Amino acid sequence: MEKITSLAKRRGFVFQSSEIYGGQSGAWDYGPLGIELKNRIAGAWWKEMTQLHDNIVGLDAAILMHPRTWEASGHVENFTDPLVDCKKCKSRFRADMIPEENLSAKKCPDCGGELTDTRKFNLMFKSNIGPAEDTASIIYLRPETAQGIYVNYKNIIQSNRMKIPFGIAQIGKAFRNEIVTKNFIFRTCEFEQMEMQYFVKPGTDEAEFNEWKKQRWAYYEKLGVKMDHLRWHQHGSDELAHYAKDAYDIQYLFPMGWRELEGVHNRTDYDLGRHSEYSGKDMQYIDQDNNNERYTPYIIETSAGLTRNVLMILCDAYDEEKVADKGDADDWRTVLRFHPNLAPITVAVLPLMKKDGLAEMAQDIRKELQEDYATDYDQAGAIGRRYRRQDEAGTPFCVTVDYQSKEDGTVTLRFRDSMEQIRVPKAELAARLRQEIKNYKRIK
Ligand code: GAP
Repeated sequence: MEKITSLAKRRGFVFQSSEIYGGQSGAWDYGPLGIELKNRIAGAWWKEMTQLHDNIVGLDAAILMHPRTWEASGHVENFTDPLVDCKKCKSRFRADMIPEENLSAKKCPDCGGELTDTRKFNLMFKSNIGPAEDTASIIYLRPETAQGIYVNYKNIIQSNRMKIPFGIAQIGKAFRNEIVTKNFIFRTCEFEQMEMQYFVKPGTDEAEFNEWKKQRWAYYEKLGVKMDHLRWHQHGSDELAHYAKDAYDIQYLFPMGWRELEGVHNRTDYDLGRHSEYSGKDMQYIDQDNNNERYTPYIIETSAGLTRNVLMILCDAYDEEKVADKGDADDWRTVLRFHPNLAPITVAVLPLMKKDGLAEMAQDIRKELQEDYATDYDQAGAIGRRYRRQDEAGTPFCVTVDYQSKEDGTVTLRFRDSMEQIRVPKAELAARLRQEIKNYKRIK
């Protein structure tokens, strides 16, 4: 993880938030390559969920919601972690994350000092809206995007004439006052989620749940993720959230071990039932195709962390490869083997030399490719070094303009994964890249 964190900073994927002030724990900034990667992951999920499904529509709900939302959802009462504090060194721990012997002996795992009793700590960030700081002005930063979907479900049925089964997808920020925020961007206080809520008729929920498990697994396969680094974990009765009838996590084998990447949950009619109770509004669905039958839909939720997916994709892509045997540091290259659809830069254009019109020719090629691809241009340093820089950024294709290009109009197309180089007529470049992206298969 240290290598990935350091590469992420060096190449401008992710920076510590407010670094010049010593850093803000639990918060990270996405740099030029990081925002491109995050946007592409979000784009792939959005396409999968909305464009490729006739009955799923999108939503972008506000982060600030009426505080009753969080009473109805159960978060005010139940969204807590068990906490203990050390009376001596003042460290704070999640009680379920320290060794059992420390907990039972009330002994701090860091300094041996005395621990407090375990108490419940609510993870929601609380603030006040408006000028008064009283209980009437309490507002929460949303801890999940899902509730914004539930409170809009009737609006969307009416405005878009949706019929059950149907889904609503949303990508957005969520906030949790996490006590343990180590492992880079894995668990943070400010993060992004990609959630889809699928509204189904009670009784069909188990079949729909199994179908969504299949679809989410296939999605990661399509992204080109190492499938032997993914597995299912079913929640035991001690792990099930207060709203869930059944829940499975897709776990990924991160450098620190198997950890949750995404959850697929059968939330039953809990959410709509509770919002109906707390708002006084009828949240039932009226099935006009079935004698106006009324029922409260069950919800199958697929809930993935976008920022956690960024970390997964970085870990999955990271590789160190021996490429020479001269006995120095240049024998090795660091390469991010991103799928071309996710890579922040798709193609880098490099003139072999700055002089003799090669730079101008390379700039022209870049301009032509820019309309269809994310491009980069680099003319600084030896060509081998420039290839290495692009490997580290995960750029799948490099185009090199050399003296032969001036003579016969061909350029070198270099492939990141195999390092193979072929010559391609300049005029065929855009089409060739399209074909390479379409047929891309990861080789390592
Ligand atoms: N609406 C259901 C829900 O929020 P969750 O299991 O608490 O379920 C879903 O969160 C996903 O959100 C997780 O699988 C994870 O990818 C991501 N996630 C949760 N807490 C996170 C945090 N503190 N930092 C980064 N990602 C987080």
